[in-house]
Amino acid sequence: MKLLIIGSGGREHAIAKKLLESPKVSTVFCARGNAGMKKDGISLVDIPENNHQALISFAQEKDIDWTFVGPEIPLLDGIVDAFQAAGLKIFGPTKAAAIIEGSKEFAKKLMKDNAIPTADYAVFTDYQAACAYVEEKGVPIVIKADGLAAGKGVTVALTLADAVQALTEMMTDHRFGKSGEKVVIEEFLSGEEFSLLAFVKNEKVYPMVIAQDHKRAYDNDQGPNTGGMGAYSPVPQIPAEMIDRAVEKILKPAATGMVKNGTPFNGVLYAGLIATEDGPKVIEFNARFGDPETQVVLPRLTSDLAQIIEDLLTDHEPELTWNDQASVGVVLAANGYPDDYQTGMDVPDFADQAEIYYAGVTEKNGTLQSSGGRVLLVGAQAATIESAQKKVYQILENIDTTDYFYRQDIGEKAQ
Ligand code: AMP
Ligand code: GLY
Repeated sequence: MKLLIIGSGGREHAIAKKLLESPKVSTVFCARGNAGMKKDGISLVDIPENNHQALISFAQEKDIDWTFVGPEIPLLDGIVDAFQAAGLKIFGPTKAAAIIEGSKEFAKKLMKDNAIPTADYAVFTDYQAACAYVEEKGVPIVIKADGLAAGKGVTVALTLADAVQALTEMMTDHRFGKSGEKVVIEEFLSGEEFSLLAFVKNEKVYPMVIAQDHKRAYDNDQGPNTGGMGAYSPVPQIPAEMIDRAVEKILKPAATGMVKNGTPFNGVLYAGLIATEDGPKVIEFNARFGDPETQVVLPRLTSDLAQIIEDLLTDHEPELTWNDQASVGVVLAANGYPDDYQTGMDVPDFADQAEIYYAGVTEKNGTLQSSGGRVLLVGAQAATIESAQKKVYQILENIDTTDYFYRQDIGEKAQ
């Protein structure tokens, strides 16, 4: 089979690498991908992810068996609808279903209608009314831009002043453009976070092993929110019963609710959850694989990813099997990220056996240079989280990180 992946980050690198392990797959193209992916035999296609027509023509010319969409923006732009209209096979939710990620208000209503546990909330488009609500409810309280904001549109406000500042930035200063004209204000949930992803085909849900992301830039969850600084899987402090409950009370009713809505979900559904005293509660839904969760979850998959997607596309039952290894991934980011950072820096060279998923890199004169804030992720698997951590940090300690930083505590919460 010849496959096409849409996207260019570490998540897409991990998906492409896993697909290439399948004996059924001869070629994986990635549009646009990144230069680091070439080390793993992934073929790059120089078409931007918003040029649906050029991507469709490419898939037709190359006889692509099916296409897989990594990021949310092309999904919300309707790339799945466009490919399907051209008679091409593609795995991912339609524009109407991807709205589960694209509008927090939609997601909240879906949860309310289907009795899915989540934080209490209210939606505002009026700044004064939003401020009054925050004053009435008190802190801590969580303020979220309704639309997409690259993972940065959420403020957990510990003081009233922080809450009002977040509302001012979103609603009056338009920091997130249109995404912040409407805000969702929700109850603060306390408990351990985890990410539960599943392949979803209409009402059917096929859960993956869980992972835990680290959104803050610095150790001990300090500093600004980022796209994700590292992850690990499994998350031993989350009991199996909590995961089962999340599948039954959250993922299955979400899939059924989407079908009832007339917007059936086909693709990867990501639930960001908090394990509260009253069981798992949703903090967000995404319409795709998570980054960096994918880089630690997919290495644990022992069944054939290409076969799983083929089965989902052709109405067969997919087989998902996982190893019981622990998987840890740590992101190497440019100094200054997520605020201003430099690009064009040399990317460290790793030993051949290191498991590297590239993200913000480009090629110049035959060598890799940084082109983004999150540059790459170093991953490792081992019998325990502690030993997988050791492997990752040993690799990172052996490279020159003058221009870069990484969190030293990925996996610590599991100890
Ligand atoms: P999100 O972009 O929705 O994943 O939110 C970013 C981060 O904000 C999450 O990873 C949580 O740490 C935190 N967060 C979001 N919603 C809540 C909530 N209702 N209660 C507590 N923390 C939250
Ligand atoms: N790891 C969080 C996300 O992919 O949205």
